[in-house]
Amino acid sequence: MEQTLLLIKPSAIQRGLIGEVITRIEKKGLKLTGMKMMNLDDAIINEHYAHLVQKPFFPIIKNSMQATPVIACCIEGIEAVQVVRALTGSTNGRNALPGTIRGDFSVSVLENIVHTSDSIENAKIEVKRFFCDNEIFSYKSANFDFTYSPDEI
Ligand code: TYD
Repeated sequence: MEQTLLLIKPSAIQRGLIGEVITRIEKKGLKLTGMKMMNLDDAIINEHYAHLVQKPFFPIIKNSMQATPVIACCIEGIEAVQVVRALTGSTNGRNALPGTIRGDFSVSVLENIVHTSDSIENAKIEVKRFFCDNEIFSYKSANFDFTYSPDEI
């Protein structure tokens, strides 16, 4: 099973969308295996958005991510990285397709509700960035046998 990181950003916290985001993950059939609220310090933001540190808008991103705590979620499922990324929609909420989280709840590039890992390689790094091993839980979903076919497992 793959694991991926989802961050519920301050834009979702302030707009009362925590439940909406989690509901979509649950209804899709994905499993939450880790979840915590946390304040992001400068160090973790610099690391997490290292690919954007040199951009002129980086201070705005940092400010946005520190406006409130975020909720970090570890999500598990077969091909969970691409499944969650598809649920997320494209970066700019104005372009994201209706039906996606960003397409339904965002009209902004910056205030786009969630972060989700964009590759299997980054997902592994990002889950470790936000969770210690003992904060990820292993359990069997009661509806597992009705979520996947035996030959997919
Ligand atoms: P990025 O990693 O490119 O996108 P994604 O979140 O879809 O993986 O960018 C990280 C965040 O930085 C993005 O969610 C919102 C913010 N951002 C801006 O505010 N302006 C920009 O031009 C870009 C590219 C990103």
